[in-house]
Formats: sequence, C-alpha cells, structure tokens
Amino acid sequence: MFVDVRLSMSWTVTPDCPVVRAPLHEDERRGYTLRQKDYTMEVSRAWAMPNKHTFDIKPIGGLIQKYLPSKSLSSVDPFANKNRIADICNDIDPQYQCENQMDALEFLKGLKSSHTDFLLFDPPYSPRQVSEVYKSLDMTVNMQTTQSSFWGNLKKEISRVVIKGGTVMSFGWNSGGIGKSNGFEIVEVLLVAHGGWHNDTIVTVEKKVS
Ligand SMILES: C[S@@+](CC[C@H](N)C(=O)[O-])C[C@H]1O[C@@H](n2cnc3c(N)ncnc32)[C@H](O)[C@@H]1O
Repeated sequence: MFVDVRLSMSWTVTPDCPVVRAPLHEDERRGYTLRQKDYTMEVSRAWAMPNKHTFDIKPIGGLIQKYLPSKSLSSVDPFANKNRIADICNDIDPQYQCENQMDALEFLKGLKSSHTDFLLFDPPYSPRQVSEVYKSLDMTVNMQTTQSSFWGNLKKEISRVVIKGGTVMSFGWNSGGIGKSNGFEIVEVLLVAHGGWHNDTIVTVEKKVS
C-alpha cells in the first residue's frame, strides 16, 4: 500500500492548561495517510484450493472473465501454459504447444507498441521458480534470470505493448503489478488464500493511465 508518513503534529495552547493535545485526526491515529487511490480501488479476499494452474482457481477464473474484453484488439498471454484465453499465447516450454514458444521477454519485444488492450501476466513467482523452469528445459540459470530485473524488464515491455486505457492482470505473491512508474494504476486487488502454510495468490488488476 502506498503510504505517506506524516511527521507533523498540531498542538493547541490555552491559558488554563499548559498544553492540550488537539484531537487526533484519523490519519495521525494510523500514523500514515491513505492516498485517494487506495480508497477507490476494490480489494477483496476469497478462499480456494491451491492449483499450479492459476487460472483454474475458481475466483481467479471468475475475475479474468470480469475483465476479459468481449472484443479485444488482440489479447496477449506471454506465460500461457495450457491456457488459450488470450488471442496470442506464448510459453517457453514446448510441451504446452503454444503458437509462440519463446522466452517471454523476447516474445514481448517482438510485439509492436500499443499492440494490445488486455494482457495476462502470470510469470514464475520467485527466482526459485524461474530456476526450476530453466533447469527443466536445460537452459542456463544465471544472475540475469534470477534477479529482480527478470520481472522489471518484462514489466517495461508490457507497458510498451499495452495501449493507454488497456488492462493488465498480474498474478503472484505481491500486489506490485506493472506499477505506477510504468504508467499503470491499480483498479482492483483480489487476495486468494489457500490455507495452511501456502502463500496467498494475489491478483492485481491495473489500467494503463499514461
Ligand atoms: C505460473 S505458470 C502460468 C500458469 C498459467 N497461467 C495457468 O493458469 O496454468 C508460468 C508459466 O510460464 C512459463 N515460463 C517460465 N519462464 C518463462 C519464460 N522465461 N518465458 C516464457 N514462459 C516461461 C512456464 O513454462 C509456465 O508454464
């Protein structure tokens, strides 16, 4: 959540009482100020069994249907696995027989700017998951593939290929999404709890605003 830490306090002095603390404003009680955007974005929480196929998790499948445009410019899924929800699918693993079987960054670089109005971003969620996929395909695992720049470079390309007003749905263990610095604003967040020691799956829906 974006927070502005408030450092200032207001005090009132009266003749009878040396120092009287002014009533605490809600922001001061919390210790930070919620930005307007945080008030307007929708945040909800559901429970569902974990599933390695993210889009088969019921509340997630439902949310995708909510945002999937009935008529899209040409929707894109760079980490499609077995899914064919989007018009253009890619997955580096040939066993999924996507029409494109490239590294997602190279795949995105091959798309023209402002190519799509809807993109599903469901990459490996951690450096460990990246390593597992690369090793299973006998590909080199190095600093480039496991640093945060793996996700950062993808986000920059996603920002380039999505038109202003377009929607990106990001899936993972954080709500960072494509990010404000890449021109996106969050419209909805769905937390899906799976119980036990499992991490929540977090879906962040964003619109490109600049
Ligand atoms: C989290 S899974 C996607 C799951 C999918 N959305 C579903 O619901 O089944 C990540 C997928 O990305 C693929 N993948 C991993 N690294 C990749 C890369 N660098 N480029 C393209 N695909 C990659 C994996 O083969 C895997 O199918």
